[in-house]
Amino acid sequence: MKTPQNPSIISGLNSLSDFKVFLSKKNYSAKVVLVDKNTRKFCLPIINEIINDHSTITIESGEENKTINTCIEVWEQLADKDVDRKALLINLGGGVICDMGGFIAATFKRGIDFVHIPTTLLSMCDASIGGKLGVNLSGYKNTIGLFKNPKAIVLHNGFLKTLPDRQFSSGFAEIIKHALIGDSRLFNELTKLNNLREDAENLIARSVKIKTKITNFDTFEQGIRKSLNFGHTLGHAFETFFLINSPNNPVLHGEAVAAGMIAESWISYQKKMINENELKQISSFIMKYFSKLKFNQNDFAEIIAYTLKDKKNENQQRSFALLDGIGKFRINEVINEKEIEHALNYYLSI
Ligand SMILES: NC(=O)c1ccc[n+]([C@@H]2O[C@H](COP(=O)([O-])OP(=O)(O)OC[C@H]3O[C@@H](n4cnc5c(N)ncnc54)[C@H](O)[C@@H]3O)[C@@H](O)[C@H]2O)c1
Repeated sequence: MKTPQNPSIISGLNSLSDFKVFLSKKNYSAKVVLVDKNTRKFCLPIINEIINDHSTITIESGEENKTINTCIEVWEQLADKDVDRKALLINLGGGVICDMGGFIAATFKRGIDFVHIPTTLLSMCDASIGGKLGVNLSGYKNTIGLFKNPKAIVLHNGFLKTLPDRQFSSGFAEIIKHALIGDSRLFNELTKLNNLREDAENLIARSVKIKTKITNFDTFEQGIRKSLNFGHTLGHAFETFFLINSPNNPVLHGEAVAAGMIAESWISYQKKMINENELKQISSFIMKYFSKLKFNQNDFAEIIAYTLKDKKNENQQRSFALLDGIGKFRINEVINEKEIEHALNYYLSI
């Protein structure tokens, strides 16, 4: 497979004016900004100050709208606007807008250019990087999608000012994951943090560095990119469980991943890949930032069934990315139902 060109990452204090320069060097036939209700209110006014020759498409916000039906609405609006193949879609929002907007652009008229302007901590340090695009199918996470990089990723920390604290913590989960799989020094520093918001700029830069290094090396997830799924096999199962059973109050992606990282750390410990101290350190640190997900033993069968839907599985076997010490990982670990059940019991017990 051809490796897609790596996108420009436009960051720093002048990122928005640098983006303006980037656009001035292109000759797009139209620029369309995709926003959700919140980013329309909080982030679009900032973008309107730097570009004035664009139109806007607004969708509802939230994971429950990351569906093919929303894509159809947006494709129809693009067609109504006579958008041609020389146009640019600007995805202004969190991971939902980046994943879905990228997918919409990559498939509209066989593909138009797009850029990501992430506006949540999670999308700045994770979802906008690495070219994974897609939507959920019947609640199952990211089942429909493809790999394609945006032309640019524009990082502007100023957007975080309006991000609610709960969303901020959700993004922190992916920073913890990057540290756990790739940088033990960073993990150590995280455990000593006093104020997450004050340190956001440094944490985003470090996180982006870890993720780009992995995804540039293994764009199509044939090998080491699978490490980024640490915490996500169970995390996605939790997310699906709450999306289906409590659609009006789903857990956030990072909250599900945080719980997934605790349970998957327990499996790593059982396989003697981390020691008891490390397990306790990881669990208590994560619990300092995240509340316990509300499920019980009666829900285990359903949650375990969702892990079978994970895209990394092969031959109906559940394949996990686990920790091999803090800052290191092992991929393609086949885990059975009993081991998952024990891991869920551990999570409920802490
Ligand atoms: N492609 C990838 O590699 C990758 C990696 C991790 C996660 N993801 C995906 O990312 C999604 C989660 O992303 P998310 O947590 O950013 O969720 P999100 O996009 O739903 O955004 C969270 C909420 O914050 C609001 N919001 C966004 N920016 C704001 C701002 N600046 N001020 C105020 N409100 C704002 C949104 O409207 C939304 O209500 C999931 O679908 C997950 O699967 C993708």
